[in-house]
Amino acid sequence: MSDREEEKRANGVSRKTILRAAMIVPAVPLLASVPALARTPSGQPLAATPENCDADDLTPPQTEGPYFKPGSPLRTSIADGPGTALTVTGYVVGLSCQPIAGALLDFWQCDNGGNYDNVGTRFRGHQLTDTQGKYFLTSIVPGLYPGRTRHIHVKVQAPGKPILTTQLYFPNEPRNSTDTIFDPALLMNVQIVGSGRQATFDFVLNIQGTPPSPSPTPTKTTSPSPTPPSGGTWAPYVAYALGAQVTYAGLSYVCQIAHTSLPGWEPPNTPALWRRV
Ligand SMILES: [Fe+2]
Repeated sequence: MSDREEEKRANGVSRKTILRAAMIVPAVPLLASVPALARTPSGQPLAATPENCDADDLTPPQTEGPYFKPGSPLRTSIADGPGTALTVTGYVVGLSCQPIAGALLDFWQCDNGGNYDNVGTRFRGHQLTDTQGKYFLTSIVPGLYPGRTRHIHVKVQAPGKPILTTQLYFPNEPRNSTDTIFDPALLMNVQIVGSGRQATFDFVLNIQGTPPSPSPTPTKTTSPSPTPPSGGTWAPYVAYALGAQVTYAGLSYVCQIAHTSLPGWEPPNTPALWRRV
């Protein structure tokens, strides 16, 4: 069975998807089909959380396809080869537009030649949203492979909630109109900035509107960090190894998953990464 056939079988194209696809008109209207909450005209990182998060705005699921691998590294950059620089930013929110802190996003894509790394972890990585529910991915524009339009795969999981598996798409791609897996509800807003691309997309999960619990439950394992355990005060942008001990706000924590820290990943916000000792 070909990759495309496998993806189509798993996907089970919905009536809603077909109706959405039927609404697509090439060129400018493609941008018009981008969900309103995914747009930022400047193309800069989002300044505010989405304002419309009704049931109709739920991010639709899609097949994971044949190339998902568990155990991706915890990192925000998956740019592991040449290509057009790409950033993707946005929020993970629930049905009341409440930001979801500590949500897990696991991205994977092909390289610029259309090939997936099915042996290693190139162009694969997972991260957690910060306390505002924001994520930030650095990558390259993925290439094309037979039968599919340009896309990025992603799994999104609010702490303790079911995993949403879906894909993100690029506007104005010729193959969008022939790829039956394509869903315009999953179009990113993409801006050309210099020689690169800046994209935004907000994920709306089917979670009712209570404030998020800062208890991320990543399901992935990470590669060992070369950085040995270290003490001192927690800080962002530090590669912490498994077993590293830090202090934060007068409390001590031990690292449970090797990772490079980011703003918003303070130990009290990321109990999956840090355990009180
Ligand atoms: Fe794919």
